[in-house]
Amino acid sequence: MSDRTVVVVRPIFPDVLEELRRHARVLDNQAGATLDARTRASRLAEADGLMVSAADPVTPEIIQAAPRLRVVANIGVGYDNIDTAACAARGVVVTNTPGVVDDATADLAFGLMLAAARRVVEGDGFVRAGRWSLESQLPMGLDVHHRTLGIVGFGRIGRAIARRAAGFEMKILYHNRHRLDPDEEIRLGVAFADLDTLLATSDFVVVQVPGNPGTHHLIGAVELARMKRSAVLVNTARGGVVDDAALADALQRGTIAAAGLDVFEGEPEVRPGLLGLPNVVLAPHVGSATLATRHGMVQRAALNLLAVLSGAEPPDRVN
Ligand code: 8YV
Repeated sequence: MSDRTVVVVRPIFPDVLEELRRHARVLDNQAGATLDARTRASRLAEADGLMVSAADPVTPEIIQAAPRLRVVANIGVGYDNIDTAACAARGVVVTNTPGVVDDATADLAFGLMLAAARRVVEGDGFVRAGRWSLESQLPMGLDVHHRTLGIVGFGRIGRAIARRAAGFEMKILYHNRHRLDPDEEIRLGVAFADLDTLLATSDFVVVQVPGNPGTHHLIGAVELARMKRSAVLVNTARGGVVDDAALADALQRGTIAAAGLDVFEGEPEVRPGLLGLPNVVLAPHVGSATLATRHGMVQRAALNLLAVLSGAEPPDRVN
């Protein structure tokens, strides 16, 4: 396998880089440089394996420019950045990193819920501006405990969010393409709801579906209008699952109370309408961004990549 070339697009943890180097020739980018077109083309021409993350599109053009390519290992569970069909057509295996991101992402979803409901960022602004007075106590925030949480998308991360909500003694509704067995619902302490009912009855709505054409603008103007005026929306899924223009409008008009967003349509650009609003907490796509979680993701991506290059079935094949 040492005659194989692995191209790593972004800086990764040095110990994982070393592990890759034990098995293959590695063209890394530890400086995080923006490579010029010629360097990119020459690296792609040599690549047997490619390691990318959510911000790196893998298009048909890239696959065409990499005739030796056998595997694209994504550092992330969502792989909407990769044209999996074009990869499959060329016999290129695509892998992701399920499981390792669940708890960190659920923690952030909960953090955004709490921050938006309890106006943590606004309060921080009051303290820093020396305006800690009666003014900083008003208007007040919203309770999270004992309220109703609606989770849209009940995969691994959705379930991890539900486990946290149980500690806050929340009533938990979920909406998913496939309904769980009744026994499983009882065990997890959750109740199924159709999307309209979930939106109309939840105090907090967390969106946690994969990003794909079927979930584009799943939450748009019509869905936002169904939500309570006192409700808080959190998107830790993918930009584009929520219609950010419609959301900015709803937040501005006060037809929902607040939002917490980790992902944006067209990120890293953020719709200007959102930037000026006090009732939205904005995070730069950091759901998995803890040292331990990112390390686990990179390790997992390396495991998948090396498995394919050694002729084995990788643990997390998606196409
Ligand atoms: C990113 C994510 O992969 O796992 C996912 O689907 O969106 C994130 O973990 C990470 O931010 C690296 O780009």
